[in-house]
Amino acid sequence: MQEEYVGIGAIDSIRTILERSGAKRIFLVTGAHAYDSSGAAGLLKRILADREICRFSDFTSNPKIEEVVGAVGALRAFAPDIVLAVGGGSAIDIAKSAAILSAQTGPLESYVKGEKELSAGGPPVIAVPTTAGTGSEATHFAVVYIGPRKYSLALPSMLPAYAIVDSQLLASVAPALAAATGMDALSQAIESYWSVRSNDESKTYAEQAITLIKKNLVAMVRKRTDEVCLAMARGAHLAGKAINISRTTAPHALSYPLTAHAGIPHGHAVALTLPAIIRFNAQVDEGSVADSRGLSHVRSTLSSANSLLGATDAEDAASMIESLMDAVGLERRLSVLGITGGDIPSFVKELSLERLANNPRRMTEEDATRILTDIL
Ligand SMILES: [Fe+2]
Repeated sequence: MQEEYVGIGAIDSIRTILERSGAKRIFLVTGAHAYDSSGAAGLLKRILADREICRFSDFTSNPKIEEVVGAVGALRAFAPDIVLAVGGGSAIDIAKSAAILSAQTGPLESYVKGEKELSAGGPPVIAVPTTAGTGSEATHFAVVYIGPRKYSLALPSMLPAYAIVDSQLLASVAPALAAATGMDALSQAIESYWSVRSNDESKTYAEQAITLIKKNLVAMVRKRTDEVCLAMARGAHLAGKAINISRTTAPHALSYPLTAHAGIPHGHAVALTLPAIIRFNAQVDEGSVADSRGLSHVRSTLSSANSLLGATDAEDAASMIESLMDAVGLERRLSVLGITGGDIPSFVKELSLERLANNPRRMTEEDATRILTDIL
């Protein structure tokens, strides 16, 4: 179980957590800039003052195996009582991966590739997001890239012991980052809602997330207030809780080659195919339904997802997402982002079709090719 602290000033709860757990040695995982620019450094200064800190910032966006290996080495050498991750999805994912991998005995890459099974262990993690957001503070899995290929480490105990969601830290997020991370959160909520692995609990989180994010994303990017930041922080965290149960679906599966080969930020890459996949899923029939709960369940779920977005049908929902991308300044055409038609076959070859298995409508390689070609 996770202890969650959500709201303005939630970061102060770290003092109590550290006192209660008696943690003296803290492995601080944080991006080069976000720690200061979010205001976290200032807010944590007194709380961390009389403790031993080892700061690890040696990573870029999208966690790479080399960076994770570096983090595990630094963590093992320091032997902390607790890991404190302050940053976006990459910082939190690296912290989660490093904490669990530090307790394994085999070659690290073999756990990432799924050749060896992870066992529980490692120091507890306090996750403090500075974006709204990937929801990584609320999930028990973490992304690791080996070359262009995306893998996931997953284990129930990888869920951070503490999630600290403080909307104060969002006040100075750059508009482009707010746009991409906000679209990631919205897509995660929508994908969770229609995932074949959804349940009543995940759907409740996803519903609340869709409503909050849809209402506040444009303001978050263009003209944010404290209320908007709080709503987005809550929405992104709820979307994380939703995918922690249901996982993500086709827009996420198709996004990874776009990020790995063209450097498109994760949230932007996910948003690119979301409208096309809303239209694709709407065509589900008896022959293509992938959810064991059946066609009528999927149809009514997809229709409820459209309603949650305030749309009348799938076409309306897809157009709404396109307008939202325009409003927050996210390019919608792959060719403008440096991708050509010649790139698509290799992208499709890299898709693990197993990862598409959560999508409510079965998607073949031809379907994926068509979706990517349509947004060239
Ligand atoms: Fe995501």
